Formats: sequence, C-alpha cells, structure tokens
Amino acid sequence: MIGASPPLSPTKAPLLEARELTRHYRVSRGFLRGTAVVRALDGVSFTLEHGKTLAVVGESGCGKSTLARQVTMIETPTAGVLRLNGADVAHADRTARRRLRPQVQMVFQNPYASLNPRRTVGALLEEPLVIHRRGSAAERREQAFAIMDKVGLRHEHYGRYPHMFSGGQRQRIAVARALMLSPSLVVADEPISALDVSIQAQVLNLLLDLQRDLSIAYLFIAHNLQVVRHIADAVLVMYLGKAVEQGPKDAIFARPLHPYTQTLLASTPSLTRARRVRRDVAVAEPASPLTLISGCAFRTRCPRAIERCSVETPAPRAIGNITVACHRADE
Ligand SMILES: Nc1ncnc2c1ncn2[C@@H]1O[C@H](COP(=O)(O)OP(=O)(O)OP(=O)(O)O)[C@@H](O)[C@H]1O
Ligand SMILES: [Mg+2]
Repeated sequence: MIGASPPLSPTKAPLLEARELTRHYRVSRGFLRGTAVVRALDGVSFTLEHGKTLAVVGESGCGKSTLARQVTMIETPTAGVLRLNGADVAHADRTARRRLRPQVQMVFQNPYASLNPRRTVGALLEEPLVIHRRGSAAERREQAFAIMDKVGLRHEHYGRYPHMFSGGQRQRIAVARALMLSPSLVVADEPISALDVSIQAQVLNLLLDLQRDLSIAYLFIAHNLQVVRHIADAVLVMYLGKAVEQGPKDAIFARPLHPYTQTLLASTPSLTRARRVRRDVAVAEPASPLTLISGCAFRTRCPRAIERCSVETPAPRAIGNITVACHRADE
C-alpha cells in the first residue's frame, strides 16, 4: 500500500504525550465590555500508547473537541507540550506540521456534514493522497479499493455520491478516508452518536477490527459510557478544561475516585453499582469556563466539598493506577 509513514526508529516514547496542554480563547463580551478569556483546555496531561484507545469523557463544553483540535493540528496550543512519537507538535513550524499531519487523522460526529456531497466516494478517499502528493493516479485508486475492502464498502460504491448511502455507510466512508494516509492515530469526536442506535454497534466494531488489523491508536471522544466501556483501554475524565481523573478503564469503572466521575457513572442506567455509590450528587448547571472559580472548579456541584476545596486547587496525584485531582479522593 502507498501512503505508509516511514518506519519509525524503535523508541520508548508513547505515541501521544500531552503535558499541561492549554488552549485559551479570547472572546468579546460585547460593546465597551472588553474581552474575556475562555479556558477551554487548561493544563491537561496524559499519554496514549501505540495501538491503544484513550476515551475522553465529560459534559458539553468541558473542552473535548478543543483537545481534539490541538491533537489534529487544526489549532496551535496556547501553552504546554504536545508530542507525537516524540516530535514536538505544539511548536512545529509549517514544514514539520506538514510532515506530522498525515499521522493523525480525524473522524467527525456527523458524516452528513463532513463529506462533500459533490464528490464521489473515490474522489473523497483519494483527496488526502492528492493533498499530500502521494502515489500516481493508478496507485491512489488501488489504495482506495484496498481501504474500501477493509471498511466493508463494495467496489461499485467507488463512483457513487454520499447522499446515496445510509448514515452508517457514510460513516464507513469517513473512516475509510481517515485511513487513506495510514495514520498511527485517529481522533474520533463522537463518531457514532449521530447514527441510528441499530447501526452504532456495527461502526464501533468496525473501528475495533481496524485497530486490531492496523494497530491504530484512537483518541475517542464519547458521551456514552457504555460505548467507552466497550472500546477504551484508558479513560480521561474532563471537567471545565481540566483532567479531573484518568486511568485504566477497568480501574475507573470499578472504583471511580473523583466525585464528578462518580456522578457520570451514576447517571448511566445499567451501571448499577456506580449508581448505588452516588445518587446524591448535584445536577446543577455546570459552571461556565468564563467564570473563574477559586480552588476546585467542581466544588460548586460537589456533595463532598469542604473549606479546603474553595481555597486550594487540587493537583492531580496518583492513587493506585488512577490519577485524580481531588483533595478527598483517598478518604
Ligand atoms: N473558537 C472558540 N472561541 C471561543 N470559545 C470557544 C471556541 N471553541 C470552543 N470554545 C469554548 O470552549 C469551551 C470548550 O468547548 P469544546 O467545543 O471543546 O467542548 P466539548 O467538550 O467538545 O463540548 P460538546 O460535548 O458540546 O461537543 C466551551 O465553553 C466553548 O464555548
Ligand atoms: Mg465537542
């Protein structure tokens, strides 16, 4: 297959490493009121190993897509470290970005919006190769057919347009397109939540099969914790731009340590054990990332908040194999 990235020298570096990764946005507060800063991503650290899946969870507005936009190099972080296979993504110049970009591809939530309706499946699939000047026309076509085989599209689909496909098939096309450059990392931002429930499992299983075959790593953004439980190796829980808890999936699901993670698990119907743990958690509106809260940002909704939580921001610390930012996590 063409389009493969050059072989990497053996290295112990994780595939993806973020240290205190930060992205702030300056927004206008309206006439005569000046500007404010949205701390969409506020010092997040994590690693993702080759071929593994890190699920990112947290409610709307907590910064999941902002994280995805830094990792896919759509935006440049305000501060912090971001490394892909040891290479500095955050400070990469244009040439370096051009070299790094093919290694990270993205699958979006809505395949109706993400695929240009005026292009055939073949043209959609080959476009990334054209942009990165890979292969001859014949080689690009051959690669498109090879990837179509992998995602379960038939060769006669090559000349058809996106509107001729169901939602599930469209997402297969979007996944195929993401694979054309043989990426080592695919960032999937809610890739199945716009699909019919009946076909969500098919697309999820396709992603799992592809991971096994091609050893791709996924940064998988999800609302649905059942889905996370099915696909993740590790889980990163975000709240208002910060990583409040992370660790191996089994540890997080068996014994979440942060009150916010406990809330999330409690609101998932079939996770009955977690529900017993915390049913008393505040369901108030999340605070806005525009409002600076002293101490722990979750304290305004936390049933376990104490005086210390309003004066001292909890630093992430290791408890067993979980990293958690809560003063009371070990009580
Ligand atoms: N370009 C931007 N300019 C200003 N604010 C932004 C911008 N992009 C995102 N934000 C703000 O940053 C915060 C995080 O947004 P983000 O889209 O990353 O959240 P999310 O976790 O992906 O939410 P959802 O689950 O709804 O997709 C939000 O408060 C959002 O309004
Ligand atoms: Mg989002």
